[in-house]
Amino acid sequence: MEENVNKIEISLPEIDHSASEAFRLVRTSLLYTGASKVIAITSCLPDEGKTVVATQLAAQFATLGKKVLLIDCDLRKPKIKKMLDIKGNYNGLSEALSSQTDFSIYSTNVDKLYLMLAGKIPPNSSELISNGRMEKMLKVLRDKFDYIIIDTPPIVGAVDIQIIGTMVEGVVLVFRSGYVKMAMAKKIIRQLERNDIRIVGAVLNGVKKYDKDYYYYYYEY
Ligand SMILES: Nc1ncnc2c1ncn2[C@@H]1O[C@H](COP(=O)(O)OP(=O)(O)O)[C@@H](O)[C@H]1O
Ligand SMILES: [Mg+2]
Repeated sequence: MEENVNKIEISLPEIDHSASEAFRLVRTSLLYTGASKVIAITSCLPDEGKTVVATQLAAQFATLGKKVLLIDCDLRKPKIKKMLDIKGNYNGLSEALSSQTDFSIYSTNVDKLYLMLAGKIPPNSSELISNGRMEKMLKVLRDKFDYIIIDTPPIVGAVDIQIIGTMVEGVVLVFRSGYVKMAMAKKIIRQLERNDIRIVGAVLNGVKKYDKDYYYYYYEY
């Protein structure tokens, strides 16, 4: 597979230092608690920093010499392509799950960092990820990488993480500071635990650049 993968140029965005310390902590705890190698990154709401955390965490593992696959499994609002400033169109997860293509994995200019982009936005992402192919695909890929980091949609409003959560060894929850009420966070954690989804880490993303939309979102809940 990766012997003949195509390479794409990526560029990692600058991130606010408030979160980078947390990335290091999560990375270290994931490294030393062992078992988890297939990890999904999620959060309660949109814009909490899931995609930032997923890309940075993947890049950090790669920097440590680990072979990492970053998968964009937010088939509703895929953002990895844009966040990594990738030009052009590439097949990705959605084509692989609808069996239009074999898995499209790309190597990058960051040594040891591989990518599976989202591909075309499908009409029904939760159906696609629960059709059995995702689980099979992860079983094959887990032996080819040291870590697989999966970016996912937010928990509120989509069932996707409840499905993906059962296929991974752990979930990292991202909380954007001042964004989600404690009661909601607790409810979400209980819901994941009820579905036997293991939370292996949490990142408090301290970015404070709220715009008006963020406030509206916050008060809705
Ligand atoms: N720690 C951070 N430093 C800089 N920008 C951030 C940080 N966290 C989030 N952002 C910015 O906030 C926006 C939402 O982040 P994103 O990771 O796309 O959220 P999500 O994936 O949870 O929807 C993006 O524009 C992102 O660049
Ligand atoms: Mg995202």
